[in-house]
Amino acid sequence: MKILITGATGLIGKELVKLFLAKNHSVHYLTTSKSKIVSKPNYQGFYWNPEQSKIDENCIYEVDAIIHLAGANIAKRWTNAYKQEIIESRILSSELLYNLVRKHPNQVKQFVSASGTAIYPESITKVYDETTKETEDSFLSNVVKKWEESANRFQVLNIKVCKLRTGVVLSNDGGALPEMAKPIKLGFGAAMGSGKQIQSWIHINDLVAMYCFVIENQLEGVYNAATLNPISNQELTTVIAKTLKKPLFLPNIPQFLMKLLLGEMSYLLFSSKNISSDKIIKAGFQFQFPEIKEAVADLYS
Ligand SMILES: NC(=O)c1ccc[n+]([C@@H]2O[C@H](COP(=O)([O-])OP(=O)(O)OC[C@H]3O[C@@H](n4cnc5c(N)ncnc54)[C@H](OP(=O)(O)O)[C@@H]3O)[C@@H](O)[C@H]2O)c1
Repeated sequence: MKILITGATGLIGKELVKLFLAKNHSVHYLTTSKSKIVSKPNYQGFYWNPEQSKIDENCIYEVDAIIHLAGANIAKRWTNAYKQEIIESRILSSELLYNLVRKHPNQVKQFVSASGTAIYPESITKVYDETTKETEDSFLSNVVKKWEESANRFQVLNIKVCKLRTGVVLSNDGGALPEMAKPIKLGFGAAMGSGKQIQSWIHINDLVAMYCFVIENQLEGVYNAATLNPISNQELTTVIAKTLKKPLFLPNIPQFLMKLLLGEMSYLLFSSKNISSDKIIKAGFQFQFPEIKEAVADLYS
């Protein structure tokens, strides 16, 4: 198969590309940085600039499926201008792809979009699955709603649309884990707030395997992408400290302090999402790292 990937140069995209190439699929990717364009057999980069509606239309040549990962990173201070970038980088890019695909009818069979668990309401006790209709009225939840709506448009073109509502991705190359591990390594680790907030997480290898699974099985609809074993922030902090053989002796860090330091984006540290991944398991997907201790140990091995 030939797959067009946006955001292929990011944390998830890089691993996804490795897996697709190992499985002898061919990859085209779109990047906003001309310096990241590489031309190799089976791996070809193309330039785009969604803000200016620019796209190298050759990217669509013989493509069977599209994976849309691109988007401004949410782990930066949420100024008003940056909030706008978080939304627009996902929606304008999706619209640009839609307009391109529309010009090439009956070619692309599937559109798979990254999505987030932020769409679900905050809860420590309730477990949310894909049938949940309740959402919350927060900035990030509203971003996810708009993001999914922009993906759904591809259905009009008779294309299967699949959305992976992804939990916290654990990798040692970037994302949440190295950030959590940094103070722990220095001996200043501590859980956030009550530490009771639930983190629905997924090992990077399992996430990229899931993208591959939904592509190879032509799945459509919404799937939660997190293991069946979510844990509290306190437990996650403890597992990381034990794996790194570091002590945890400081009291938990109060929410108001993090809000003072990070602003509204501190929401990410205190948010509690407990989601079920029954649906993807019933579809036949098997997690390689369902348990947190093994996942963190593998990432630091
Ligand atoms: N990592 C997680 O824990 C997690 C959890 C849930 C959902 N997700 C979602 O999954 C997707 C991929 O995540 P990731 O962790 O791999 O992200 P990442 O490392 O930040 O990479 C995202 C990629 O998007 C492109 N990009 C950045 N800003 C852009 C902009 N303003 N306009 C267009 N493209 C832009 C960049 O590619 P170029 O420089 O090549 O253009 C970048 O490499 C994101 O949409 C993210 O929100 C991630």
